[in-house]
Amino acid sequence: MCRNRKQNRDMTMTAHSEYLSRELARIEDLLHAETDKLQPLVQPLTRHVLAAGGKRLRPLLTILYARALGHGGDDVYPLACSLEFLHSATLLHDDILDGSSLRRGKPTAHVIFSRGETILAGDVLLALANRMVADYGRPRLVSVLSDAVMRTVVGEIEEIMSGGEGDLSLDRYMEIITGKTAYLIQAAGQAGAILAGADEEQVTAAGEFGLNMGIAFQLVDDALDYASPPEVSGKPRGADLREGKLTMPLLLLAETRPDKERRALLERVAERALGEEEIEAVVGDVLEGGYDAKTRDFAAGYAEKARDALGLLPECTERAILEQSLDLVLTREK
Ligand code: FPP
Ligand code: MG
Repeated sequence: MCRNRKQNRDMTMTAHSEYLSRELARIEDLLHAETDKLQPLVQPLTRHVLAAGGKRLRPLLTILYARALGHGGDDVYPLACSLEFLHSATLLHDDILDGSSLRRGKPTAHVIFSRGETILAGDVLLALANRMVADYGRPRLVSVLSDAVMRTVVGEIEEIMSGGEGDLSLDRYMEIITGKTAYLIQAAGQAGAILAGADEEQVTAAGEFGLNMGIAFQLVDDALDYASPPEVSGKPRGADLREGKLTMPLLLLAETRPDKERRALLERVAERALGEEEIEAVVGDVLEGGYDAKTRDFAAGYAEKARDALGLLPECTERAILEQSLDLVLTREK
């Protein structure tokens, strides 16, 4: 039977989602097996983190790159899972720093457990990830991931400092999101390529893919913060405004206002001084001006750069999934 293009595409999508489901199951198994081995005192908290779920974007990226570059072994899973543990550690600390009480619609760890326990569980996950990577006996893997963690921390510090200044250029905003989000995703791609023994050109391209995908991912995240209905996102619209965060939709809105008003708006957001009504008004102005959609347009530009970086990979299922994942990053609703 001859299939038309839509049927072919649907079949490919089904095959891709089956591939991803298989890999996700392997990832979940190992994440649980590793946390089950932790000291019993930290297990309730680390279980809570895993139960909250997540897209497992970083481990999938490591697996897809390793496979695309010819690495077939099961030894990819600890490396992949180490990236999820690093990511979970950053989120535990981030939710304390941001004072967030909900993540993915569920109470954050520091709300259920104490802040101290949460900080220390983050440290445990950081150390667990380091040990899992060290066990490969390949110093380059340790360096790449450690560099990424240090750059993530710097991005987070820059974001905290920028809040204190009450003003932010788009360039500095881009530096912040590259730091706090994209470097770890860059490292996820690079780690897969390094494990596969790929040449330097491929390792760089894997990093470029992750970096640009990571920037696109955070831009969409920042757009969704204004646009996504609470019943979909699991948190109220404008959470970034409540947390004093100056992100692209707000910066684009502020740019349309006279200088004095622009500065006053950004300062008040940074000081978390907006009342509920004002927050709703700013969210409304962002949506009315289409600044969430404009932020998504910027994201599309970075997704294109990521797509270009795929050019070096051989044609294979993993390359097709990586390409498809860029569309998912751009079109996701939560
Ligand atoms: C989420 O951004 C924050 C990050 C991706 C990075 C957080 C990094 C740290 C706290 C420092 C590193 C910590 C360790 C353990 C090494 P967001 O707050 O804009 O997104 P959200 O809405 O998902 O919270
Ligand atoms: Mg946060």
